[in-house]
Amino acid sequence: MTKIAVFASGNGSNFEAIVTNASAYVVAVLIVDHKEAYASERAKRLDVPFYVVEPREFKSKREYEQEILRILEPFDVRWIALAGYMRICGPALLNAYPDHIINIHPALLPSFPGKDAIFQAINHHVKVTGVTIHFVDSGIDTGKIIAQAPYLIPEGADEETIRKGIQAIEHELYPNIINRLIKEESQ
Ligand code: GRF
Repeated sequence: MTKIAVFASGNGSNFEAIVTNASAYVVAVLIVDHKEAYASERAKRLDVPFYVVEPREFKSKREYEQEILRILEPFDVRWIALAGYMRICGPALLNAYPDHIINIHPALLPSFPGKDAIFQAINHHVKVTGVTIHFVDSGIDTGKIIAQAPYLIPEGADEETIRKGIQAIEHELYPNIINRLIKEESQ
């Protein structure tokens, strides 16, 4: 069974969906970048090992990422799924897992990259937004697109409604795509 790692910074609802909808893979480990991340509470409940690695404890991004790589090594993970991980990957991580780090973004890239994508969509009064899964490169949400799913914004919907609608799509799409990528790779 292919092993993957998930990186998260916050709530971790995508992490949980990835764990509970695994078929071609197993989530071997969760990395969180600060100790208040609720994702780690989910990891305890789901019995997934997790590690808190806080960047401020390291002199450089390189050293921070090297510590993550040191943690990952015994887990023998083939893929890394970023799920609400609020950091740009540096060369240490990118070179260790070439074309095997993916991310989920709550908009139809290349529209609304970066932070607050849902807020950006609302501000622009778009009628359709959605979810993108893409390979991670050194930019902000710029890597090659793997999959997208649209979300039609209901007339008069508030931010909370839109967020819930987008997250429902994410929770289905992300595990499906990870399962698909891993099955394709092993064929
Ligand atoms: C998701 O909307 C994801 O697209 C974005 O950050 C959010 C994380 O949510 N990158 P959660 O922590 O998985 O609940």
